[in-house]
Amino acid sequence: MSVDSSHQRQPGLIQIYRPDAAAVRAELAAGLLGPAARIAPKYLYDALGSRLFAAITELAEYYPTRTEAEILARHATDIASALPTGATLVDLGAGNCEKAARLFDYLKPARYVAVDISVDFLQQALHCLQREHPLLELLGVGLDFSTQLVLPPQVGTGPRLLFYPGSSIGNFTPAEALIFLRQAREVSQGGALLIGVDLVKPVSVLEPAYDDALGVTAAFNRNMLLHLNHLLGSNFDIAHWRHRARFDTEQSRIEMYLDAMQDQLVQWPGGERLFRRGEAIHTENSYKYSVPGFEALLSEAGFAQIRCWTDRQNWFAVFTAQAA
Ligand code: AVI
Repeated sequence: MSVDSSHQRQPGLIQIYRPDAAAVRAELAAGLLGPAARIAPKYLYDALGSRLFAAITELAEYYPTRTEAEILARHATDIASALPTGATLVDLGAGNCEKAARLFDYLKPARYVAVDISVDFLQQALHCLQREHPLLELLGVGLDFSTQLVLPPQVGTGPRLLFYPGSSIGNFTPAEALIFLRQAREVSQGGALLIGVDLVKPVSVLEPAYDDALGVTAAFNRNMLLHLNHLLGSNFDIAHWRHRARFDTEQSRIEMYLDAMQDQLVQWPGGERLFRRGEAIHTENSYKYSVPGFEALLSEAGFAQIRCWTDRQNWFAVFTAQAA
């Protein structure tokens, strides 16, 4: 960490993820040309997509963010007692760093490492945080951990407490989630995990959470096509695509799609696809777990001393688990 001339500590910033534009175009084109078109959910998050997601978290229908916050606030002391203090707190998908910052007084981290796809998203939040916590070491890391979770050496030695809130784990398939949790256990260096997980509940609650009355989730999903136009040079006309969200009970997941409202030829440099009316692009899965089901996944990933806190309605769960 650097110290400036007035001895005020400054956050460290490292950008590791450098997207390969050609590889991104190849991945997007392959996804669009498959028999069932699909695009990875990370492409929902350009600058506007991130703002739309922030708006989603404030919607009455979208219960996960506020329910998780309630659990963390109500049980903070208890949760902290199940976790190591004085560890390096690694916040995966940190964004504005607010969720982790609310826990500093309880977890008393020795160092805070905020990880997100771009340090540009983290810079301002970390500078504000440094003013509030002048003595705490802060590091921002720009990393795409959706494909592999490996932390750079600057994160330092010693046990790490990995914080993965928001039920982002639900955007992996259970098989991918298991791989991710094994990697999390490995990179915690004998530390622990604090993770938020969305739970199975009535479809009448789940589906509106992903198809709200104001149409913010629809805008978030359809904005992916504008992002694709930018990345791939495609000519999607968003007026011809409709948002759809459904809960698949068998797979225990919300599925989000974009449905073509009319026949249309979508073109991009080097490729094209004729989408027929009613054909869909699958854009996201959001898996919902049971408490025993997620406990089993944590155990299979090698975690022990698993504890869990839920809200009164059992809509959301916060787990702690030890790597050793
Ligand atoms: C980021 N992730 C946990 C959100 C979810 O609930 O799966 C993304 C989201 N998609 C639509 N609404 C929110």
